[in-house]
Amino acid sequence: MEKLALFGGTPVRTTPFSPWPYFDDKERAYLNAALESRNWGGYPFPSPLAAQFGQLFADAHGAKFGIPCANGSVTMEIALQAIGIEAGDEVIVPAYTFMATASCAVRVNAVPVFVDVEERNYCMDPAAVEAAITPKTRAIIPVHLGASIADMDRILEIARKHNLIVIEDCAHAHGGQWRGKGVGSMGDFGSFSLQSSKLMTSGEGGVLTTNDDVLRQKSMSLINCGRKEPGYDGFEGQLFGANYRMSELQVAVALAQTERLEEVTAKRAAMHDTFRDLLHSQVQGVHVLDTDPRVTRKHAYQTIIKYDSTAFQGVHRDRFLTALEAEGVGLSGDFYTPLYQIDIFNARTAQWPMLRARYGEGILDNPQVSCPVSEKAAYHEALWMHYPHLSGSTKDLQDIVTAFVKIQQNADQLR
Ligand SMILES: Cc1ncc(COP(=O)(O)O)c(C=O)c1O
Repeated sequence: MEKLALFGGTPVRTTPFSPWPYFDDKERAYLNAALESRNWGGYPFPSPLAAQFGQLFADAHGAKFGIPCANGSVTMEIALQAIGIEAGDEVIVPAYTFMATASCAVRVNAVPVFVDVEERNYCMDPAAVEAAITPKTRAIIPVHLGASIADMDRILEIARKHNLIVIEDCAHAHGGQWRGKGVGSMGDFGSFSLQSSKLMTSGEGGVLTTNDDVLRQKSMSLINCGRKEPGYDGFEGQLFGANYRMSELQVAVALAQTERLEEVTAKRAAMHDTFRDLLHSQVQGVHVLDTDPRVTRKHAYQTIIKYDSTAFQGVHRDRFLTALEAEGVGLSGDFYTPLYQIDIFNARTAQWPMLRARYGEGILDNPQVSCPVSEKAAYHEALWMHYPHLSGSTKDLQDIVTAFVKIQQNADQLR
């Protein structure tokens, strides 16, 4: 029997995984050009590098237009405003995702309606979406979670049938493709984050993609304080915008990162497959979420692994993760909480009247809101492994698997 590192044994790994984010002379060159230009802001919008970056990013995803924006949260608020969302309209979102996928609806006076995710990939379950549609439903926000892509065939079919807008939340999914189509190019909008944990980053930042010229124009106006300037003044009326522009300094970094996207996406996808094969062949009771055969390019932001405690002598996931961390491998369990269990969505105050109108005195005890697959993932099953673990060598991957094996073989120490 080998002593687990948690109890004073020798850890499997003591060296850190790959540093991130990655950068090289490409970033330096664009940053330097932006500095020298003395045009550091984002105004006039789009600023020169922002225009270049927006188009390159759109091309990389097969979308017509790419619009740089402050981050991947306001992108979704802007998308909802651009479609003309009205107070009390309902927006269907998966329960198992980041806050912003649902709070964007609340912040424009609409109502998020939470649906469960599929067992096979933890992405929005199309059957649950269809069951949640009411006469007030206006939009669906599927999230392409971790290394998976939501079932866009079914979601787009449902949206067409019920005349709903689709905003793809692609915060995790830069570079991903479904049946040869880039994420963010299939719905009415794609929303991307460039925040520092993401596959490509400028520290903070975001992008909206769309194929629709009027939606592009409205979004640009909303990002630029509601201004209507040549190039995006072709729609009736004015919109309540604010300053959500990216600066040229941010865009400079994002441009360099986009130029590298295809190459690093392919490398990570190959490492994701290698990791899955190593893990599945050496450890029982852990399973990397399936890759849907319709995914033609895998983005691999987070590798999500399902953990079955019965293969670890009943040791709970969180205890397993503590032991894994001690072995030098830090993965995350509570990456997301089902959103309807977060108190802020519990609309007791008059601040968000539409939320209260839909959920009465609160959502937490509302028996109509229950997403068992999301809850099981959040509290018992899901292990999240951040992409830097895939960005190094095959030896890194084997170290991770060896740590799993060690804990499995010595699980009795944890009981
Ligand atoms: C699924 C998802 N949507 C939206 C966002 C929001 O992006 P940002 O942090 O750029 O506002 C994130 C960021 O963590 C995310 O993970």
